[in-house]
Amino acid sequence: MTTFLIVRVLHILLAAVWIGAVFAATFFFLPAIQEAKAAGGQVMHGVQKRGMLMFIPSMAGLVTLSGLYLYYHFTSGFDPVISGSMAGRVFGIGGIAGILAAIIGSGVGRKARKVVALMQQAGPMPDGPGKATLMQQAAALQQSMATSSKITLVLMAIALICMSVGHYV
Ligand code: HEM
Repeated sequence: MTTFLIVRVLHILLAAVWIGAVFAATFFFLPAIQEAKAAGGQVMHGVQKRGMLMFIPSMAGLVTLSGLYLYYHFTSGFDPVISGSMAGRVFGIGGIAGILAAIIGSGVGRKARKVVALMQQAGPMPDGPGKATLMQQAAALQQSMATSSKITLVLMAIALICMSVGHYV
């Protein structure tokens, strides 16, 4: 197998894992964690301990790097004529959507770490206004994570559609 084929296989495999992980987190884990309130914070801590907050950005980074290599290969070194062709533009738009998804997705990871920290701080506190404020901040961050995750998924879907049709337009 050539380097190109190995990178292509890795690109598609990692993109599939990345999208699947974000889809499951957005539509299954996050809503369940939000519903569970304080117990949800413990679940998020468990998920963080198992490395999910490192795993997803690593997938995003590897898909972006391999995608840039594939784009370089497809356009024979960013040749402006090939980049400006219909296929070049479609892969370009998909690539930009994929890179934006990676950037917004990394913001979700940062918010998740803050939620875990806030909930760990609130956990041992007695019930009262101090604890309620921390829990409210955590809930607001979780809501913002849910919105950003959905935006990330839309961008990923745009990337996936562009990549799937790029060779045939
Ligand atoms: C969510 C992010 C991404 C997903 C889901 C994704 C998915 C895919 C898939 C499924 C293919 C195979 C298409 C086919 O067989 O016809 C592909 C190919 C490709 N991807 Fe991506 N990709 C993503 C991000 C990127 C990025 C960020 C770039 C570049 C900046 C990129 C550049 C390319 C190129 C140039 C090809 C075609 C390679 C070739 O056959 O010449 N991708 N991608």
